[in-house]
Amino acid sequence: MRCTPEELAQKKRFEDVYARSQSPVMLSIERSVCGCDYGGNSWTTRTEADDLIASLELGPESHLLDLGAGSGWPALYMAKKTRCKAMLVDLPANGLRIAEERAAKDHISHKVTTVVADAARLCFPDNSFDAISHSDLLCCLKRKRSVLASCRRTMRPPGRMAFTVISVAAGLSMEQRRRAVDNGPEFIESDADYFSMLDQTAWKVINHQDITVSFAASCKHQLDADEVREVELANIIGQEEFSERIAGWRAKLAAINDGLLRRELFLVEPQKM
Ligand SMILES: C[S@@+](CC[C@H](N)C(=O)[O-])C[C@H]1O[C@@H](n2cnc3c(N)ncnc32)[C@H](O)[C@@H]1O
Repeated sequence: MRCTPEELAQKKRFEDVYARSQSPVMLSIERSVCGCDYGGNSWTTRTEADDLIASLELGPESHLLDLGAGSGWPALYMAKKTRCKAMLVDLPANGLRIAEERAAKDHISHKVTTVVADAARLCFPDNSFDAISHSDLLCCLKRKRSVLASCRRTMRPPGRMAFTVISVAAGLSMEQRRRAVDNGPEFIESDADYFSMLDQTAWKVINHQDITVSFAASCKHQLDADEVREVELANIIGQEEFSERIAGWRAKLAAINDGLLRRELFLVEPQKM
């Protein structure tokens, strides 16, 4: 895969995040914010992961594809709870190695496969999976339509795909928009809304929820969880990065509360031809 310099820089940042994701303080923060301890970095909470299991109707016969799988959250949790097969795809190999170790610890290695691949150019045969998930992936890459089209090709009808995404709220002034972009994930900007992109790639929306209120709550929990662990956290990332991190959470929370950022959940199925 040919990455742009921006994409390569983001991949390196995620590698750094996964490299320190298993430290006791990071896992403790994750437990208090999202209710899990996989080394995750999306905003997907355990309650949301349970909802995904129900929405995707996962069971022992299902084959789930999770894109931007990171170190295994929430795909491994879903595989453990439902006994489904899970294919985990991401670019940083170190995250997927952590996922493999967790799968072994949870005795589900026989159900789990990991692949380093670009979600926008999936190499799986057509109709391979009956469930697809991704957590805040589309706001971490530019080629959103290619990912949605790739997912559509690899989905076996009548399967379902569920995903969360963070986006810039509609109807903002230039200044507000700049603030939203500055405080959102790196590739939050999009040339079209998700409903249009889903329609263009042959998906039908069967459920859509604005989950910005719980996003704001999680962001506040993150800020609080970091602040009470200042000493342990600064030991790992240094005092300067700790201060930047806290300022970042504060600015993000303010942007969410000012209505500039939103987080949505989409449940979709293939359009009938
Ligand atoms: C917000 S993180 C979510 C990670 C994990 N699923 C979680 O919930 O903690 C987004 C992930 O998407 C991955 N990603 C970004 N661009 C990608 C691409 N083109 N193909 C595959 N994964 C990508 C990143 O490496 C990162 O691990």
